[in-house]
Amino acid sequence: MLDKPDVTNGELLASAVAGLSAVPKTLEAKWFYDAEGSRLFEEITRLPEYYPTRAERAILEAETATLAATIPDGGALVELGSGASAKTRILLDAAPQLGAYVPVDISAEFLEETARALASDYPHVPVLPVVADFTSAVTLPRALVKMPKVAFFPGSTIGNLYAAAAVALLAGVRAWPGVEAFILGADLVKSPDVMISAYDDAAGVTAAFNLNLLARLDREIGANFDSAAFRHEARWNAAESRIEMHLVSLRDQTVEIGQTEIRFAKGESVHTENSRKYTAESITNMARSAG
Ligand code: TRP
Repeated sequence: MLDKPDVTNGELLASAVAGLSAVPKTLEAKWFYDAEGSRLFEEITRLPEYYPTRAERAILEAETATLAATIPDGGALVELGSGASAKTRILLDAAPQLGAYVPVDISAEFLEETARALASDYPHVPVLPVVADFTSAVTLPRALVKMPKVAFFPGSTIGNLYAAAAVALLAGVRAWPGVEAFILGADLVKSPDVMISAYDDAAGVTAAFNLNLLARLDREIGANFDSAAFRHEARWNAAESRIEMHLVSLRDQTVEIGQTEIRFAKGESVHTENSRKYTAESITNMARSAG
């Protein structure tokens, strides 16, 4: 049913070696979402500390009618980074005029499962999944060319992109033929304690999610990370208005990835994710920059 994922081991290897050879060390956040990472992320969305999902669901429920009304008759709803499409059901339930639902996600396995469940729960809506990294240009299914489209980008996933990439994504969607609306969910700045616990929960699910990145490198490209030799850390970077996720090396160590040896000093971190926190003004400015 799905095209081949555009994520290959060669890409993962090249990206990991480049990121871990840089100063400071980084890993691209899109690699979080293999099947195991996608499953762990759904668990994060149900954590007591992780307020964004509940807050967004409450907004979607309060504003369902207004949001559903942005979808024209026979229009397509295109969701970027759809994951389990759990919140999307609120819109799907309220938009019988929908011509198609197009979940776009980087995890092929997870997307296929989600698409199957949606197709059986919404038999009247064609579900057209697309396996893609939405930070690159997304090729939409041909059936969509002539349909009016509404883009849906919830979960404050926009905040996981650097400013220039976020503006490029918004501008890219604006250039889709027939796009009529963009429904964007973005998290606002709040007390650092609240934000930090949302990314460092007591049950350790976010830590497991972050560490799965290293386990994935071991599984897929034969790296020899010992996940127990790193710890998860969430930091608030006030100057950049973002939560940062790091994996901190617990000792001096050397890890092999393909032909490359990477040295870690004790206390050195790999920066794995940013979650930008917005103000109404910073969201408006971002939207303006994208036209
Ligand atoms: N879009 C989510 C956010 O920024 C992604 C996310 C939530 C996340 N928790 C995470 C990413 C933990 C990495 C690690 O809130």
